[in-house]
Amino acid sequence: MIPHVLKRFIVLEGIDGAGKSTQMNLLFRALSQMGLKVFATREPGGTPIGERIRKILLDKACSDMCLRTEALLYAASRAQLVEQVVKPKVNDGYIVLCERYILSSIAYQAYGAGLEVEAVRQMNTFASKGVVPGLTILIDLDPRFELRARGADRIECRGIDYLDRVRQGYLKLASGDPSIRVVDGRMTIDKVHHEILGLVSAFLNAAEEGRR
Ligand code: TYD
Repeated sequence: MIPHVLKRFIVLEGIDGAGKSTQMNLLFRALSQMGLKVFATREPGGTPIGERIRKILLDKACSDMCLRTEALLYAASRAQLVEQVVKPKVNDGYIVLCERYILSSIAYQAYGAGLEVEAVRQMNTFASKGVVPGLTILIDLDPRFELRARGADRIECRGIDYLDRVRQGYLKLASGDPSIRVVDGRMTIDKVHHEILGLVSAFLNAAEEGRR
């Protein structure tokens, strides 16, 4: 399937605790204040069906879920989001900001948990009908840094080694794809925000030039 790049679709990625939600809020506010039409969403979730899928995925009672079921549920939530939110909002002239997208599945389910990279990629191409973001910002953080900064609880329940593999996967994916820009998550919230805003503004300006 030929990738369908949506220039007004921008994704924020990173390991748990990298600061995506904080940065998403700041970016949303900054772009809105610039007078742009912005819509923010997240994965898994973002639609009524997606939020129900999210509950299953995050439910501790479902801890015996097998890897393929998990990967398919993330992809199912994504399929619904693309159809019900991403495409219609972009068509309506919005810039759609999304916390996590296909890269999360490749980093977590493939590099982190061990599913085949190509299999995860293919199931997600099917789920998304080839829709890919114009720009992805990867907030890169060593999980050990997060551990020192915020305490052990959440990180320990997934395991440092797992998140390390996820992080390395992200970096590998970013190194081969110019649409993924890496930002150093060790900087202050303010500095990370300014760097992200700079990248997003430059990207949107270039996209606008390209339309003229
Ligand atoms: P999220 O709500 O973004 O959690 P956090 O704010 O802690 O980063 O995501 C929930 C979890 O789902 C997170 O541990 C990452 C995982 N996830 C995957 O493993 N694969 C995916 O495709 C997605 C979208 C999320």
